[in-house]
Amino acid sequence: MSEPSWQDLGPAEAFRSAALQQVTIGRLRLAVSFRDGEFGAVHGACSHAGGPLGEGTLEGDYVVCPWHHWKYHRLTGLGEPGYEDDAVPRYPVRVVEGRLEVDIANGTKRSRKPHDPHPLARRVERAPGPPRVLGISTTNMEAGYPRYSTSEALLEHALGFAAASLGAEQRMLRLRDLEFRACEGFYSKSAHACTWPCSITQMDPDDQLDRVYEAVVHWADVVLVATPIRWGNASALYYRMIERFNCIQNQVTIANRVLIKNKVAAFIITGGQDNVQAVAGHLLGFFGEIGFHFPQFPYVAHSRGWTAEDMENNVRFVRESAELREGAEQLAARAVDEALLLLDHQDAAHRFSRGGRKAHHMAADPTPVPAAPPGTPPPR
Ligand code: FES
Repeated sequence: MSEPSWQDLGPAEAFRSAALQQVTIGRLRLAVSFRDGEFGAVHGACSHAGGPLGEGTLEGDYVVCPWHHWKYHRLTGLGEPGYEDDAVPRYPVRVVEGRLEVDIANGTKRSRKPHDPHPLARRVERAPGPPRVLGISTTNMEAGYPRYSTSEALLEHALGFAAASLGAEQRMLRLRDLEFRACEGFYSKSAHACTWPCSITQMDPDDQLDRVYEAVVHWADVVLVATPIRWGNASALYYRMIERFNCIQNQVTIANRVLIKNKVAAFIITGGQDNVQAVAGHLLGFFGEIGFHFPQFPYVAHSRGWTAEDMENNVRFVRESAELREGAEQLAARAVDEALLLLDHQDAAHRFSRGGRKAHHMAADPTPVPAAPPGTPPPR
């Protein structure tokens, strides 16, 4: 035990009025609690990703982190039952002449149970092989009663063409087949509360957006996104997916870590009413922001116009349109060509780099993945 260093926090009465408060002494953050007539003080930074524990809530004697809900005993600092090894320091407290004091020299040790990193947290490295084309269909429909989707049909055609005529590997993901939660706004708590992999992905093993992350970040060279037009916008499932992509973009902002490199996106947009360009504008803006490149003429689209309500004819038109199928083929070809150019460029940069010059900007993901990245909460 060290020589005590008692610090005055203020009138004890002020700490009796709130169950939990965050206070700072110099650079030390503390979560000070009061319950059943007893004060407690634990470190104010969560062992997971540094969430402000004093801004969380008290559940019985456990302080609940406001970011991803890890829990620590307010008097011992130990993690909740089963996770005692995930502990934050706790500090002695006392009341002297009506003032609350904390001994900051005698905090216990912080500990963190080793957690296996989430598989998605691995370094992004392109495995050798032919170009890889991922199709994402954002169309919704009842699984037991499927209908014809014009955008999905063109996407299937483009993927078939990429495999048969471009020598590409192809993979299709239909968002309607996946169970995944909507973004819950971790970013709105703090940029650092939004983690890669996504906080929801790490906490909820039943959430299936990990399949999309895996394919988009680790597998694909080309991502073809197909969407219907819904009230002048892309589909609701599309927006549900890209809200969850915030964690990809946020890595650039908070960690200077670019997860999407040398990848190409292109789009298929169909609908009964107009607004193709508004939908395309959004798709281009979003995918550009997270780091994708685009081929020349990066989308194929079809709509019937504002006054056309004859959807049967619309479907028949797309179904029978050789021009649209050819457009989807050319889109896939342009996207794969662009991806190959980028990959060649990357290889050339690596060769150049081996020759003694640096080419940081072309490396796939130069950020080393820490052995135990901060975002690895076990499901709780
Ligand atoms: S930072 Fe506290 S639970 Fe994630």
